[in-house]
Amino acid sequence: MSVHVKVILFACFTSYVASFNAQGIYKSIKTDYVVEQEAVISNVDFKIKLKDSKPKVSSPLRFTNQQKPKGDSYETYKPNWDDLDKRPLPTWYDEAKIGIFIHWGVFSVPSFRSEWFWWDWQGAKYNNTVDFMKKNYRPGFTYADFAPKFTAEFFNADQWADIFNTSGARYVVFTSKHHEGYTNWPSNYSFNWNSMAVGPKRDIVGELSTALRKRNLHVGLYHSLFEWFHPLYLQDKENKFRTQQFVKSKTLPELYELVNTYKPDVIWSDGDWEALDTYWNSTEFIAWLYNDSPVKDSVVTNDRWGSGVMCKHGGYFTCSDRYNPGKLQSRKWENAMTIDSQSWGYRRNANLSDYLSIEQLIDTIVETVSCGGNILVNVGPSHDGVIKPIFQERLSQMGEWLKVNGEAIYSSVPWKFQNDTVTPKVWYTERITDTVKTVYAIILQWPENGALLLGAPAPSKDTTVHMLGSDMSFTWAKGPSRGMLIKIPFIPYNQMPCKWAWTFKISNLLNS
Ligand SMILES: *[C@@H]1O[C@H](CO)[C@@H](O)[C@H](O)[C@H]1NC(C)=O
Ligand SMILES: *[C@@H]1O[C@H](CO)[C@@H](O)[C@H](O)[C@H]1NC(C)=O
Ligand SMILES: *[C@@H]1O[C@H](CO)[C@@H](O)[C@H](O)[C@H]1NC(C)=O
Ligand SMILES: *[C@@H]1O[C@H](CO)[C@@H](O)[C@H](O)[C@H]1NC(C)=O
Ligand SMILES: *[C@@H]1O[C@H](CO)[C@@H](O)[C@H](O)[C@H]1NC(C)=O
Ligand SMILES: *[C@@H]1O[C@H](CO)[C@@H](O)[C@H](O)[C@H]1NC(C)=O
Repeated sequence: MSVHVKVILFACFTSYVASFNAQGIYKSIKTDYVVEQEAVISNVDFKIKLKDSKPKVSSPLRFTNQQKPKGDSYETYKPNWDDLDKRPLPTWYDEAKIGIFIHWGVFSVPSFRSEWFWWDWQGAKYNNTVDFMKKNYRPGFTYADFAPKFTAEFFNADQWADIFNTSGARYVVFTSKHHEGYTNWPSNYSFNWNSMAVGPKRDIVGELSTALRKRNLHVGLYHSLFEWFHPLYLQDKENKFRTQQFVKSKTLPELYELVNTYKPDVIWSDGDWEALDTYWNSTEFIAWLYNDSPVKDSVVTNDRWGSGVMCKHGGYFTCSDRYNPGKLQSRKWENAMTIDSQSWGYRRNANLSDYLSIEQLIDTIVETVSCGGNILVNVGPSHDGVIKPIFQERLSQMGEWLKVNGEAIYSSVPWKFQNDTVTPKVWYTERITDTVKTVYAIILQWPENGALLLGAPAPSKDTTVHMLGSDMSFTWAKGPSRGMLIKIPFIPYNQMPCKWAWTFKISNLLNS
């Protein structure tokens, strides 16, 4: 029997955080943590809880040497939204701001219309899709016949990861399984309809996760709860979702397998809308994810967990595809959007005008981040594993812009104004440290007449203005009624710090 020496240490520390609180609501708050450290011989238990917060029934987590508490409160979450919505959002997510979305699957073989191809052809039976099949494929060709053509011969996870890393993104969300049901990993619950059995004959999720982690990019997995044509799903649907055959034998085993095998930091759930969260057992799964899974401290989830749940519950809100509300939101949210404005999956017949220009992309990033959102920028690789040069170009331009202007984006928080009150197309962010608050005005249009009038900032005599990526400082005068008028000298084209949108860093404001 071993001797137990108990040492209880108490330490108080104060930290200033300008971030999301437990409900994911923005605040600049002073937080007092009480750290209670209980050392039992070789075993060290940490309990960290917010002082004065209602203590929850908790089984203290046991940290072995490789894990350390990071300041979040550790609790056991019950499988209901009330409880799950209280979990603090892991801080990496809000700080990251920029993610890449990838839609890749069997739908990338026809690469016609969109990733909803199978549904368009045999569910909705759209004429153009039915005609496309009649004209180009033999009679009797089935959707499953596309799978062997999902060849992925040029798929190189390290190349993809380099493209994403160069784009300035901090996380990547990959379709592990879309509504067609084909899994991009060798799932034991998707017999003969997975990337090891048919098509690439490779573990795509595995190869990609490894490559992303080598570059310190967070790995996220998109997963569709429903499958358009799965017989067990259709059976449950027929039974008005009073049976859960599909959920018990497919959805849940698959989700647990994904998390245990690949340890993703984002579960991007989708395909939820036909049935209630109680059918999907969503809260039970998320409670496991937050309490007991191997990623319980780092994982983030979205809000697509059952009909009526989106934009109401979950880790962060997506609300709709391409959600971009243009004003500050009370909860952390994400704008999932796509560079091909017409589709998430690759389309061979897309026109150039369907792709967002870099100006449009940067405008969207800036507006999103100013309003408290993250952005998830989607690319659709082709069936052979290529990210086409048009996508590569957009992503490398984004990286070029972020290299100069990232200071105003990563780890920023929304300012009290999101856009300017006088001049259109000026968006604000702020950075807060223990001692300094800095406001960033990002201008999407270069000012005319050598001056930029900003209505929102209240300057003090010490206010200074710089442009990110340049050593120039700018002189300014008080605005006609309020605000400030920044003088913009002539800057030769080859001395501009970047080509598309410019950031003024404004220090020592009265209202920062
Ligand atoms: C689709 O094709 C059917 C049969 O050819 C035709 O009756 C219908 O009008 C078409 N629908 C559209 C929207 O073109
Ligand atoms: C599938 O099952 C086999 C045999 O039990 C196991 O070795 C393998 O790891 C499982 N695959 C996954 C992805 O969990
Ligand atoms: C990833 O990108 C960052 C920033 O551009 C760069 O410093 C780093 O070297 C890149 N990592 C790899 C493995 O290429
Ligand atoms: C699913 O939810 C029901 C209650 O709605 C619960 O009885 C059951 O244990 C849950 N199953 C799983 C696998 O979580
Ligand atoms: C591409 O543009 C041409 C010419 O405007 C148009 O006819 C065609 O429908 C477009 N293709 C797609 C897929 O939208
Ligand atoms: C600021 O943004 C809001 C919401 O998009 C818009 O209604 C308003 O006109 C903008 N202000 C200016 C000066 O452009």
